[in-house]
Amino acid sequence: MIDSGTRLYGLVGNPVAGTRSPWIHNTVFEQLAINGAYLAFAVEEKGLADAVRGLKALGVRGFNVTIPFKTEILPLLDRVDPLAARLGAVNTVVSENGALCGFNTDGPGLAAVLGRHLGSLKGLRVLVLGAGGAARGICGALLEAGVAELALLNRSQARAEALVQEMGVLAGEGQVLRALDPEAGLQPYGLVINTTSVGMEPLTDAVPVALTGLASGAAVCDIVYKPHRTRLLQEARAAGHPVIHGIEMLIEQALLAQKLWHGITDGQLAALRHGLIAEFERFDK
Ligand code: ATR
Repeated sequence: MIDSGTRLYGLVGNPVAGTRSPWIHNTVFEQLAINGAYLAFAVEEKGLADAVRGLKALGVRGFNVTIPFKTEILPLLDRVDPLAARLGAVNTVVSENGALCGFNTDGPGLAAVLGRHLGSLKGLRVLVLGAGGAARGICGALLEAGVAELALLNRSQARAEALVQEMGVLAGEGQVLRALDPEAGLQPYGLVINTTSVGMEPLTDAVPVALTGLASGAAVCDIVYKPHRTRLLQEARAAGHPVIHGIEMLIEQALLAQKLWHGITDGQLAALRHGLIAEFERFDK
């Protein structure tokens, strides 16, 4: 029940309609008996600085940041964690005695989900579909996780080439980063990740790429979580590939944000993760 002791948490982005973040965080509050409430705030493009000042003045304990503000928020914070600074993106803010500190749980969340499904990411050759904001974050996280190769395939090849240039600073020694020729085959890749919106409701029949030629055993991951089983993942499963659903990444970054806010244990995280995924699968087939 909301009362005078309830602490406010929230999501700042635009658009935020349809986001599942309030469902995840309010479920966590309920299950851990934390007196918190999590709301989604659609903030105008020019209103971010006012929104952040307002949240600070209201004594909010923590909030998430999403598209289009993940980079724009950095100079508005009192402190930015080194990983978030390296990735150039903050998705979680923690108020530490009134000072706003920015973190990135998208990258570690993605690495944790992929690691659980695939084991170590070191040495993996990965094909990333898309070259927008989501691709940028995912490429950064994969380079941090030590993949051997990142190949970017995008509708606009010029944009893929620009992102490859931009990501170059994050590539360590021996890591290959390239824009893939649209005619090139998928055979070398052990993991394909869709970061585009292709396949998202309402255009659920679309796929971002044909999986023809993908080696058997290669995994396919989709950041789209509406629908849960995208056409791409259905085709991958039908061809015998391991699949990784978008909702897992959304849940993982949220649970890592909760860990920053409330210091919850790994055992609690595992139980919450299991319950949230099961509930999502039940109501969102
Ligand atoms: P986000 O920040 O969510 O990644 P974005 O920056 O607009 O959003 O990027 C969207 C990505 O999805 C881009 O890679 C875009 O391809 P283009 O760079 O060629 O525009 C890709 N995308 C969106 N709709 C697409 C479609 N119908 N077919 C292929 N790619 C699409």
